[in-house]
Amino acid sequence: MRTQKSLGEFIIEKQADFPHAKGELSALLGAIKLASKIVNREINKAGLVDITGSNGVKNIQGEQQQKLDIYANDIFKNALIARGEVCGIASEEEDNFVFFDNKNSRNASYVVLMDPLDGSSNIDVNVSVGTIFSIYRRVSPNDGPVELDDFIQVGRKQVAAGYVIYGSSTMLVFTTGNGVHGFTYDPSIGMFCLSHESLKIPKTGKIYSINEGNYIKFPLGVKKYLKYCQEEDKTTNRPYTSRYIGSLVADFHRNLLKGGIYIYPQTAQAPSGKLRLLYECNPIAFLAEQAGALATDGYNPILDLKPTELHQRVPFFTGSPEMMETAHQFMEKYK
Ligand code: AHG
Ligand code: MN
Ligand code: MN
Ligand code: MN
Repeated sequence: MRTQKSLGEFIIEKQADFPHAKGELSALLGAIKLASKIVNREINKAGLVDITGSNGVKNIQGEQQQKLDIYANDIFKNALIARGEVCGIASEEEDNFVFFDNKNSRNASYVVLMDPLDGSSNIDVNVSVGTIFSIYRRVSPNDGPVELDDFIQVGRKQVAAGYVIYGSSTMLVFTTGNGVHGFTYDPSIGMFCLSHESLKIPKTGKIYSINEGNYIKFPLGVKKYLKYCQEEDKTTNRPYTSRYIGSLVADFHRNLLKGGIYIYPQTAQAPSGKLRLLYECNPIAFLAEQAGALATDGYNPILDLKPTELHQRVPFFTGSPEMMETAHQFMEKYK
C-alpha cells in the first residue's frame, strides 16, 4: 500500500495558495513532470541507444550541442505546448524566444525559461545531469504575440522555479515561493513522491565547489577565499572539502542537502561568468533563497539583477549563508 504523497497530489493540495492561478500553474507543472519522466527514461538508456554524443551543431553561445540537449529541449517544449498553459518559452538551445502561436496556447498567462539539459559534458560518462526551469506570468497583452519583455523579467518576479536531477535517483525539486520541496521518482509506479518537504540548507558546511582549472584568471577575492577554504582552522572546521561535478544542478543539489558553497566566477574564457542568468542562475537563486541560502554575483542578489538579454551570463555564487557572507567579505576586501 503506497502511503507517500505524489507530486500531483501535493500540487493540488497547495493550489489553495494560488487563488488566482485557477489550476493553470498545476497543469503547467504537470507538463514539466511528464517531460522529465520521458527525458529520465532516455537518459537511463543512454549508452544503449544512439543518443549520446554531439549532433554536430553549435548553439547560439558557441557550445557544441549534444543529442540529448536537443532531445530534452523538444520533449519539454512539446509537453508545454500540449498543455496550453504557456504562451512561449526561452531555452538555452533556442536562439530566440518561441511564441506558441496555436489556439490553445497563444493567450495563456505564463512563459517558461529553461535549461533543458544541464551538465551536457557529463552525459556520455554516466554522471548526473539535470533540467532547470523558471516560470513567469507574461507581461505583454495576451491578445498578441509574446515579447522579449516577457522573458527578461527580474528574477524576483518568478512565480515558480525548479530543477530535475537525473542522478543515482531522479528528483524534482521546486518552489512556488512557499519553501522548497523535493520529490523522488519511483520508476516502479512512474510517480514522483514527496521525499524532502521544506528543504533548508545548513547555515554552514564543509564543501566548496568551483572549477579550479580556471584559477589563474579568477578575481583576487575568489583566489583569497579559496586559500581561506584550504587553510587549517579548528573553530571553523577548515580545511573544507572540494567537490565539483560540473553539472550545476548536481553541485547545487549536493550543497543544498549537505551545506556548502558553489562559485562560478569570471574566467579568461568567460569574462562575464559562464552560467546564464535567465535559465540557470535565476531559478537556482529562487530555490536558494527559499531554502535559506544566498545567491549573488559576488556582491548583489541574483534575483535583483535586471536582465537585458536572453542568453546573458553572470558570475554566480550560491550556498550556505555563513559561507556566502565570508566569501562576500573577501570579494569586498579585494575588489
Ligand atoms: P550546460 O550543460 O547546460 O551548457 O551547462 C553547463 C554549465 C553547468 O552545468 C556547469 O556547472 C558548468 O557549465 C560547468 O562548466 P565547466 O566545465 O567550465 O566547469
Ligand atoms: Mn550547453
Ligand atoms: Mn546548464
Ligand atoms: Mn544545458
